[in-house]
Amino acid sequence: MTTGQYEIQKIVEGSNNLQQAVLGAVDVQKELAIYDRFQQSGEKVASRGLLISGYSYADIVRFLQGGGFLLVGRKNDERVVGYLLMDPGEKFSRQLLEANIQWVRPDDRKNIEPILASGKYDYLDQIGVRFDFHGKGCSNELLRAAEAAVPGRTIITMIMTQPVENKASIRFFEKSGYVTFAKVHFSRYGTMSPFEGILLTKKV
Ligand SMILES: CC(C)(COP(=O)(O)OP(=O)(O)OC[C@H]1O[C@@H](n2cnc3c(N)ncnc32)[C@H](O)[C@@H]1OP(=O)(O)O)[C@@H](O)C(=O)NCCC(=O)NCCS
Repeated sequence: MTTGQYEIQKIVEGSNNLQQAVLGAVDVQKELAIYDRFQQSGEKVASRGLLISGYSYADIVRFLQGGGFLLVGRKNDERVVGYLLMDPGEKFSRQLLEANIQWVRPDDRKNIEPILASGKYDYLDQIGVRFDFHGKGCSNELLRAAEAAVPGRTIITMIMTQPVENKASIRFFEKSGYVTFAKVHFSRYGTMSPFEGILLTKKV
């Protein structure tokens, strides 16, 4: 599918070109997985975004086998410049059982807690665009294509605020109509201990 300036391709388990697309996404992740640099410098705000760590090829294939999808964005049919990973909500809901959740508004709790409990939503696990392509429309096109792929559904995403605040990502999602409904605290999440984040949602 082409949504604008970029060729956006949706990959699910069994898709043609799966291997090429997943390798392309892994390559983009390598550029964006710069958490180590923040750890070393002690910098607390990522104004251009960051990934904590990149997934391996096998990790992404497992996502697809579990019913998730991958979008990759290319310009002029060349290398992958951005990707987005969407996962059925159940896995994230299981992870959230380990977290302390602070609801922003009581109404949000009433409306969203049952959705989280049911797992019947889509979890936007990651979006990433090569640094050279930030602010050039690829992120918007990926997000628009992801939303179009799950019509009528609720999308939930989590953005890190501690140990590093992912400012670029917060700005991007808020601008795209996503609303923060809770703060989360994990005593351990991946290699981070503790980890804090915000949960945002949009009904599409
Ligand atoms: C989060 C992330 C994907 C956001 O992408 P981004 O491109 O930097 O986001 P921006 O909001 O700057 O880009 C959108 C902007 O592109 C520009 N843009 C949009 N369409 C455009 C076009 N056709 N031509 C040129 N520029 C365009 C606009 O300025 C737009 O802002 P607007 O929607 O207010 O008009 C990016 O920062 C990133 O990859 N970060 C690293 C990984 C990460 O942090 N991921 C999130 C955690 S998983």
